[in-house]
Amino acid sequence: MDYYRDTFMEINLDDLENNIRSFQSHYFQSKEIMAVVKADAYGHGAVQIARVLQEQGIRHYAVATLEEAMELRHSGILGCILLFGHIRVCDLHLAATYDCTLSINHIDWFKEALAGYVGKPIDVHINVDTGMNRLGVPSKEEFVQLLVLLSQTSHFILKGIYSHLATSEEENDTYYQLQLRRFASFLDGVDTTDLWIHIANSGGSIKEQPSYFNMIRIGLFLHGVSPSDHIKLAFPLKETMSLFTTVLQIKTLPRGEKISYNGIYMTTDEQEVIATLPIGYADGLDRRIEGGRVFVNGDYGEIIGRVCMDFTIVKLPRIVEVGSIVEIIGPHISMEEYAKKVKTNTYHAFCAFSDRVVRKYIRHRQVVEIVNKRLNQTCREDL
Ligand SMILES: Cc1ncc(COP(=O)(O)O)c(C=O)c1O
Repeated sequence: MDYYRDTFMEINLDDLENNIRSFQSHYFQSKEIMAVVKADAYGHGAVQIARVLQEQGIRHYAVATLEEAMELRHSGILGCILLFGHIRVCDLHLAATYDCTLSINHIDWFKEALAGYVGKPIDVHINVDTGMNRLGVPSKEEFVQLLVLLSQTSHFILKGIYSHLATSEEENDTYYQLQLRRFASFLDGVDTTDLWIHIANSGGSIKEQPSYFNMIRIGLFLHGVSPSDHIKLAFPLKETMSLFTTVLQIKTLPRGEKISYNGIYMTTDEQEVIATLPIGYADGLDRRIEGGRVFVNGDYGEIIGRVCMDFTIVKLPRIVEVGSIVEIIGPHISMEEYAKKVKTNTYHAFCAFSDRVVRKYIRHRQVVEIVNKRLNQTCREDL
């Protein structure tokens, strides 16, 4: 496979399989799992992730855009693919061709859709707004009107009703409870037989919910990461993603040398071991990682000076060979640690890694696929 720089992400599909199996066997509320694989499965590769999930019996997926759904279908993903986002009415025929399930987020959009579409029936879920105040039907009146409109058409088929939580990862669950109550009052008096009813994301999934909420939508948990320190599962998950680079150049510098742009770091030891790594902010490495840790040959090193576009400089406790593997995120440095250091959440940190970083997929402890999006190449061993 062609890639020409030793900086890569490793995504362990065995760990993903372990995570989903753990979830399926230990999850205390028996609810259908919808796997949220939008944004390229948070940078892990939606196709590769969904293929493993499909093998493990997952039948529902969620994405944000039509392109994301089309990509999954082109890769042989079956079952329901729900789009959270908005699509143009003129693209509804594509949603039908690709057998997408659409969200109705607003009544005006749906009226336009009814007026403009007369094709193959399209499955829909209604998204009601219970407090996220981003997308979703805002009032019970609109919701009831929608139910009436849906009962009068054969072009759209109601399959589910959902809402989205704004604070599920927080310790205080007052707002979570309010959203649950609002969701229940939307549903009050509605015949929910044969409908998927769902509100919980990863954070919400571990909180108690009424049994007629029969689906959960999980994204972050698939990758073995918790949305916050307050959210603890009763069973272990494994972080599936590691990020590695290599030592490109190494030198020993005397005291008083400035490192990288603007010289914000100056060597203070008599002999400082300084290594340059081929990874930078164009790869999505956050500039705020300065002062953060890397792991090389059994020791931790420290990221020093400004992260450059293509390179990063670290201080190491001892000389290592050029070509030594450097862990940025992995078994010794968790994604939580990385995200905390760069003052963001793990969702954002995952999505920030660019497609300049080659993705290597591990299955049955071997590299089975390497994706280099810059060369538009995928090299896949037969699994
Ligand atoms: C509407 C919706 N549902 C579910 C999820 C999944 O959230 P999580 O990754 O916390 O499980 C997301 C992710 O942002 C979302 O936007």
